[in-house]
Amino acid sequence: MSQDKTSRAESHHMTPTPPLRLKPFAATDVPFFANMATDPRVTKYVGDGSIWDQATIAEKTTNALRDAPLHEEGAARWFVALHEDQPVGIFVSTRREPGVEIGYWVPPEHWGQGIAGAMVDAGLGTIPALYDSDNVVARVDPDNAASARVLTRRGFRATGCENGLDRYTREVPSSAAS
Ligand SMILES: CC(C)(COP(=O)(O)OP(=O)(O)OC[C@H]1O[C@@H](n2cnc3c(N)ncnc32)[C@H](O)[C@@H]1OP(=O)(O)O)[C@@H](O)C(=O)NCCC(=O)NCCS
Repeated sequence: MSQDKTSRAESHHMTPTPPLRLKPFAATDVPFFANMATDPRVTKYVGDGSIWDQATIAEKTTNALRDAPLHEEGAARWFVALHEDQPVGIFVSTRREPGVEIGYWVPPEHWGQGIAGAMVDAGLGTIPALYDSDNVVARVDPDNAASARVLTRRGFRATGCENGLDRYTREVPSSAAS
């Protein structure tokens, strides 16, 4: 299966994106997120690669749920991706100076189905208006090839490196620029 993914990644075929919708992250979604944050396969390329402890999960999810005004640095909005009413991923966004940083998490049993790509597609449809900013960035571990692929497939380009992470910046289509 993983060999299949690698050979497919080298071709020009894009993993089809399944229909899904993003709904705002709620307190009842914390266990779904915690399952991912405590899975070493998921956290391998996040932060220092360690799984998250309960205090970190509580801190991050509380911040995501506190509805801070979106102009505030660090204000976050998270979303749960639903496919046929089942949660299949988390899409996160955070106000950074300047712009918005995005991230995405998919449970390993759903990897390779185009879910991250579909979440980014959906997120890019709402994030610029939500934050009133076209400046969308993501920071990716250089070894996280699947994540980089999701971004470059969608018009992001590597524009720098900070703290060991590659920064990807979205090129705004000229038709969307004001
Ligand atoms: C990274 C992650 C979000 C990808 O989720 P996913 O739903 O499996 O991704 P998708 O199926 O939408 O697309 C993955 C793309 O990478 C490709 N890919 C998958 N594994 C790959 C690999 N080892 N090397 C290169 N490309 C790879 C796929 O072929 C696909 O590209 P395509 O659209 O051109 O076919 C998922 O692995 C994950 O949650 N990881 C843990 C959390 C994480 O690292 N988040 C990102 C932090 S920046």
